[in-house]
Amino acid sequence: MKSVVIAKPGELVVAERDQPQPAAGEVLVKVQYASICGSDVHIWHGHNPFARYPRVIGHEFFGVITATGEGVETARIGERVAVDPVVSCGHCYPCSVGRPNVCSELQVIGVHRDGGFSEYAAVPAQNAYVVPDAIPDKLASLIEPFTIAANICAFLQPQPGDIALIFGAGPMGLTAIQALKGVYNLSKVIVADRLPERLKMAQENGADVVLDNSEIPLAAQLEGIRPTLIIDAACHPGILAEAVALASPAARIGLLGFSGEPCTVTQQSLTSKELSLFTSRLNSHRFPQVIDWMEKKLIQPEKLVTHYLPLADVETAMTLFEKDPRSCCKVILTVN
Ligand code: NAI
Ligand code: MN
Ligand code: ZN
Repeated sequence: MKSVVIAKPGELVVAERDQPQPAAGEVLVKVQYASICGSDVHIWHGHNPFARYPRVIGHEFFGVITATGEGVETARIGERVAVDPVVSCGHCYPCSVGRPNVCSELQVIGVHRDGGFSEYAAVPAQNAYVVPDAIPDKLASLIEPFTIAANICAFLQPQPGDIALIFGAGPMGLTAIQALKGVYNLSKVIVADRLPERLKMAQENGADVVLDNSEIPLAAQLEGIRPTLIIDAACHPGILAEAVALASPAARIGLLGFSGEPCTVTQQSLTSKELSLFTSRLNSHRFPQVIDWMEKKLIQPEKLVTHYLPLADVETAMTLFEKDPRSCCKVILTVN
């Protein structure tokens, strides 16, 4: 089978590999579609501190079960499945409180273990979620990125009366817009980005107000509007202090970033407004929730997709995705 392997940082190859055998408790997935994420590019360039090499990348994928390992019912063969990349131990403290995404032995498929940019992938059976017929094959790999929005929203508890501000109109910002508008029914979602093309995508994905903050600071453009719910989906370390300054008293702020640079905020700026800060990593068992959103058409994953390319063109696809944020959003590989 063909697999996209990052042999070592900087070295991407489409390699011929043996098809994996599903181990006990696993299923073998014949991958059909896999979407590219910023973290795949980071692993390629050696910028992901968790990655081990050589690694088959890809954590957003969809396919069909073609074999089962010991202890898994053979009746599962033929199921159309989306794969949750979060593999957890099930018994540590975070697992015991329903947060396997920060398991003390966390293994992320496509990061710590081989992933879905491959003709076949062996994954734990419980990570393979049946995709209902209402969700087409070519969009099912986008369940995973929407689980990021679902996870942060579970912390933020959006209410229809909230005034939301989202920093960044990349894939993460766009999934958050769609969730806030389509699932939580907010009447006002404001989105800031520096690229006009990305702001246009934000509008197409449901933003009520888009603001270009490349030259004029947001404080000057918001005209006194105090957001009550803020999501940082741009993740520059300077954004937290800006969000804290712009926030309404009693607002909630959600952070998604992994930068190693310090963010500087004072206790006074947080406590005087009694702000709540939440962080969110990957997702905690949120596949069923997002599958339900998609099945009910509360969200429109197709609005994120700008390109489909064959697996063999993965380097072109990843380069396009990385270098051309003005024309690219989600790039999906067609695998089998
Ligand atoms: P992206 O790079 O495609 O999008 C970021 C957007 O933010 C770009 O459109 C950029 O123009 C804009 N931007 C940059 N600085 C800005 C600023 N100061 N104000 C407003 N907009 C600004 O990235 P993507 O895929 O949407 O991911 C966003 C972030 O989310 C990344 O940092 C990524 O590491 C993080 N992430 C976190 C996850 C988690 O589970 N916590 C999961 C996936 C991504
Ligand atoms: Mn991703
Ligand atoms: Zn655990």
